[in-house]
Amino acid sequence: MAYNDQDNATLVIFGATGNLSRIKLMPALYLLDKASQLHPQTKILATGRRDWDKERCIEEVRDWIVDSTGVRFDVDVFQRFSRRLDYYRVDYSQSGVWPLLKHYLESETTSDNKQRNIAFYMAIRPAEFGLVIDALGDNGLLMEKAGWRRVVIEKPFGYDLDSAQVLQKRISRHMKEQQIFRIDHYLGKETVQNVNVFRFANTMLEPLWNRNYIDHIQITHSETAGVGTRAAYYDGSGAMRDMIQSHLLQLLSLVAMEPPASMDAEDLRDEKVKVLKSIRPITEEDISTRAFRAQYTGGNIGSEIVRGYLDEQNVPADSRTETYAAMKLYIDNWRWRGVPFYLRTGKRLAQRQSMISICFRHPPQQLFRDVSKEGMKQNWLILGIQPCNCLRMEVTVKEPGLDMQIRQTSLNASLLDEGDVRTDAYEDLLLDILSGDRSLFLRHDEVEYAWRIVDPVIDAWSRDKKPLQTYPAGSWGSPESRVIFDKPQTRWRHSLDPVQ
Ligand code: BG6
Repeated sequence: MAYNDQDNATLVIFGATGNLSRIKLMPALYLLDKASQLHPQTKILATGRRDWDKERCIEEVRDWIVDSTGVRFDVDVFQRFSRRLDYYRVDYSQSGVWPLLKHYLESETTSDNKQRNIAFYMAIRPAEFGLVIDALGDNGLLMEKAGWRRVVIEKPFGYDLDSAQVLQKRISRHMKEQQIFRIDHYLGKETVQNVNVFRFANTMLEPLWNRNYIDHIQITHSETAGVGTRAAYYDGSGAMRDMIQSHLLQLLSLVAMEPPASMDAEDLRDEKVKVLKSIRPITEEDISTRAFRAQYTGGNIGSEIVRGYLDEQNVPADSRTETYAAMKLYIDNWRWRGVPFYLRTGKRLAQRQSMISICFRHPPQQLFRDVSKEGMKQNWLILGIQPCNCLRMEVTVKEPGLDMQIRQTSLNASLLDEGDVRTDAYEDLLLDILSGDRSLFLRHDEVEYAWRIVDPVIDAWSRDKKPLQTYPAGSWGSPESRVIFDKPQTRWRHSLDPVQ
């Protein structure tokens, strides 16, 4: 493969000994190396507070990759990969470390990495983003004199609108917007990227993609996993901030946006922002019919008995953090006015599933004798994000035979066949960071508008002292969540298979 010198860079990972680096970043970088996607001179500098050295870091990373599901370990590739790796111990609160790190980066990375392009990846606690970026800026590490400098920020970007604005002001003192890569890893997922292709490379859908044909849209992300060891972060966040403010609103804007002028980052992001700006604000009066929250209690996930949220490690016994959140949104524009978008997410639910389900309107008339009105199902279009990476269109057909019996069948345009190579979202996003493509990253105004949508709900919930709704682990959440549906016959769509 021909390498571009602009992609020859050093990737500095802050928080490299942590969970994100272990389960996502290092395996993704290894896979990119295996697929010959990294420039031969690209280096990876892992930094963290732990007292590791280069050898220890290589050993740990080796174990992470061996343990990583979906990664086939190859000794030769790992040898090449390990030559890119180095470890630098940094205590972020010690101001003395930054000039040393600068010196290291300028000397170690120049010998065969003349461009001195550097991407700094913030895989650290959100509370430390500002501190580390200030230190990089104050030490001249973000100045683009001898090559590009980029900063990658993981979500959450802020805790609410005000804190997001404060953080933005703080970091924009040191760099231009073009240097900031705000990650939403959902945008790197295969089906999510396919939403644009599906919508804008197929003319037959466009006439149907509006309020005249679509009854409602559901966007679901469900997990069987509980909070695990992340309570320190999650208990202060909750499902609304953790999933809806970021991933689910991104999915909504891709499904609902107008065709962009081009697929360039700014054109795409302009269209997504227009959607977020058109969302009808949720007022105090309609919170109870537009948002729903609940918390899991003990239950069964498959054959495993699991504990409730309040009994999880590091969760306060009186925590009111929601582990399930659902929301109804209306986009008040020409295309979507009146079409409800139902978003829901939860931990410890019955299945791990992310999908966008588009429900079309009922046929206007019941024409077939002997077919009950109830037998006439609505068409659905299902975009499966995970675990099934697929695209299905449900239509009604006649059963073979003399009787007029009908049933639902699904036209399958799945994106991956068994045995096809699946790439992880982080592989794609890391490559985009190195090549400077910002189209799958969030612009600051997108983040702000997303906070504007969820903030009133989070605020009202924080003042509401009524007992929290609960749901048993392993269920599909509380049936009460249906309070947000406009029509009594609407149901949450749980499965990819047609409902008969
Ligand atoms: C993260 C959330 O952003 O996304 C987690 O913080 C959640 O709580 C995760 O589990 C889900 O991502 P994925 O890729 O596993 O669906």
